[in-house]
Amino acid sequence: MGCEKIRCGGKALARRIVLTSGKGGVGKTTVAVRLGMRLAAAGARVVLADADFGLNNIDVVCGLENAGPFDVADVVLGRCRPRQALVPFPGRANLFVLPSGRAAAEHPVSPQALRLVFEQLSPRFDYILIDSPAGIGSGFHRAAAAAGEALVVTTPHVSALRDAARVLAVLQSYRLQRVDLVVNMVRADMVAGGEVLSPREIAAALRVPLIGVIPQEDGVFLGEEGGAARKAFRLLASAVAGGPCKVYEPAARGLFGGLRRAFGRRP
Ligand SMILES: Nc1ncnc2c1ncn2[C@@H]1O[C@H](COP(=O)(O)OP(=O)(O)O)[C@@H](O)[C@H]1O
Ligand SMILES: [Mg+2]
Repeated sequence: MGCEKIRCGGKALARRIVLTSGKGGVGKTTVAVRLGMRLAAAGARVVLADADFGLNNIDVVCGLENAGPFDVADVVLGRCRPRQALVPFPGRANLFVLPSGRAAAEHPVSPQALRLVFEQLSPRFDYILIDSPAGIGSGFHRAAAAAGEALVVTTPHVSALRDAARVLAVLQSYRLQRVDLVVNMVRADMVAGGEVLSPREIAAALRVPLIGVIPQEDGVFLGEEGGAARKAFRLLASAVAGGPCKVYEPAARGLFGGLRRAFGRRP
């Protein structure tokens, strides 16, 4: 125990980053997992914390449902230590999932309790990526209150943008060191065709720094996506890690994409 403290004493604490959005289905869980995988691949020690209580998104989509004996509620209730609740991500040495599958049903977890769990894990990790539920209800509050930074995830669609704006306004009342925007499910043809705003236009309209752009691509969740999404996640991870903030530039392919680019956008 004493040794542990000395070893951890000089180490910076993990960055606690909540992934949030107003609307569901925009890709929070996907972006959290893929970003976590990339950060871990670059050598960072990462916890993917499921704060979407009850829906146990992350462990299910990672194929880790009921993989560990404990979850975050067990930690809060003192049944285990935070590290014991972590489930190793298959094939990734530095990546762990903190599940919450039973948390909602069994025991309400307060924002303070969740924050404490993260603080206890912090000295041993570089990142705690907190996957939050959609909306701005109590689940959102719990996740945001336990975080130090936020990544707001949106798609370019109008309904998602409206909800992202609402979330950004609410996030101002939290003491976050930074809030950045990830635009997910970007289709180059729709941007080029003027059917949706470009990620940069979205960031300007929402007045938030753009840190990542992820194209819409099949297989994105499983890491079976093609080169474009892979590159996009690599750029996002690098920007999150403090590298140059270079975002993926969607380029419409094929003759029609080229023509649209050449002749500009529809009014
Ligand atoms: N960039 C993308 N391209 C294609 N499909 C995506 C992309 N991002 C997410 N999806 C899919 O959209 C659905 C919702 O994503 P999810 O991450 O569960 O959203 P949320 O956590 O915000 O509810 C999932 O089926 C996921 O595989
Ligand atoms: Mg989700």
